[in-house]
Amino acid sequence: MSMHAHYITTAISYPNGKPHLGHAYEAVLADTLARHYRGEGKEVRFVTGTDEHGLKIFQKARDEGITPKELVDRESEGFKRMLEALSVKPDRFIRTTDEDHYAEAQKLWMKMVEAGDIYLDTYKGWYCVAEESYFDEDELFAVENGYVSPLGNPVEWKQEESWFFRLSKYQKQIDDAMHGGGMTIKPPSRHNEVRRMVEAGLRDISISRTTFDWGIPVPNSPGHVMYVWVDALANYLTGARDEYRNWWPASNHFIGKDILKFHAIYWPAFLMSAGLPIPREINAHGFWMNDGKKMSKSAGNVIDPHDLIDLYGSDQLRYYMLESVSMADDGNFSHEKLITCVDTDLVNSWGNLVQRTCSLISAHCDAWPTYYSYKSIVDDRLIENVQTYFTLAQFSNAIAEWQKGVYRCNQYIDAKAPWNLVKVDRGAAIEVLAGLLDTIKVLNKLIAPVVPNAAAKLNDYLNGPLAKPTVLFPRIGK
Ligand code: MSP
Repeated sequence: MSMHAHYITTAISYPNGKPHLGHAYEAVLADTLARHYRGEGKEVRFVTGTDEHGLKIFQKARDEGITPKELVDRESEGFKRMLEALSVKPDRFIRTTDEDHYAEAQKLWMKMVEAGDIYLDTYKGWYCVAEESYFDEDELFAVENGYVSPLGNPVEWKQEESWFFRLSKYQKQIDDAMHGGGMTIKPPSRHNEVRRMVEAGLRDISISRTTFDWGIPVPNSPGHVMYVWVDALANYLTGARDEYRNWWPASNHFIGKDILKFHAIYWPAFLMSAGLPIPREINAHGFWMNDGKKMSKSAGNVIDPHDLIDLYGSDQLRYYMLESVSMADDGNFSHEKLITCVDTDLVNSWGNLVQRTCSLISAHCDAWPTYYSYKSIVDDRLIENVQTYFTLAQFSNAIAEWQKGVYRCNQYIDAKAPWNLVKVDRGAAIEVLAGLLDTIKVLNKLIAPVVPNAAAKLNDYLNGPLAKPTVLFPRIGK
């Protein structure tokens, strides 16, 4: 894949219930980067979806008295509806129960077999169903009647025949990959976390299960299904193929910080074993919290993104999530902060600027003035900075830089006071307004990846016949 093509993914979510704000956030991160590159005319493929096998799904379906397939058919629809409501537009919504995915996962498995990296043994140890993850005893925390994972989820003892993957063989190669060898892990705090895990030593891992059958069959091994993380990670290869080409390797895997080990250690090792290129960049974001705790179904503190979209609008939610936290940090959800953020930035600063400028133009001109440029108000440096921050997936910085542009426009319009100037020197006033209009066009294009609907609406208006403006962002607070 050329360096000018971008294959962007999110983690695929477990469809064992409704999506929450954390899932919405990750989808918006990836969609924003995809829209940014598309806006620059780059080739982009963006894939997201659902992770439908494994014990967690199997048990949830059993508890509800339905089949796992019925459960995932029902719940994956909820994830699709969320994307729609957020204006997140993937090129493919992948489900790990899709037929082509079975073939892709089995192909990956066979390549690892051919490399001599898979062997049969017995797994004896702890397993956490909530995280679909194995743990060593020294990683666990003792509680009253057993142990819990570092995230506080229950673990159970397992002993079963299992295929193992020679992860230990890849310790040095992973270390090299992340130190100048083509795999960047961001932000730096997450890079360091992975480095520490690699330095602590990598042990071979169990990659098949025999005690249930809700998974992809291991080739030539009756009774074994693939460990759900092998199956799930392989989705990135399945999703890379469209009708015309294979987009692999990924340019950006967007994931949460809890699944770093799987993406930054297991995944490159599987790919190295299979002789495939490794992902170029892993972007690990923090958590959305509610009441000081990670938002999750098990904690019972989830926020439904649809509720927020109904209350505030989807562009508004996207803007708030990207503006208010940087990827390295956790975000504590707050209605008050969302309202202040939207009313301050989108309503007062941006919306009002557009309103003032376009109202004056429509009052004093017959057509859109075209003969003046943004250069008297914002410089190319500012524009480049916004673009660079998007490319670095530093969205809160991109937005902060964009805000500077809006601020300069507001300063400029206040200083020039075209509403007074027009009374004494109409030509000069229209020059001011034309410069502002051009700057608004530039700023609108820059922020479009974050607020795609408002940007499209404004763009249509500015490219149509001159008319009075309508409100871009309604005020949501009092
Ligand atoms: N199915 C696995 C991922 C497989 S990827 C090959 C999984 N699913 S998940 O549904 O639990 O989480 C999906 C994504 O949402 C993960 O990246 C996870 O970190 C993210 N989030 C889940 N809860 C979150 C918050 N409270 N805040 C932000 N994102 C979090 O893991």
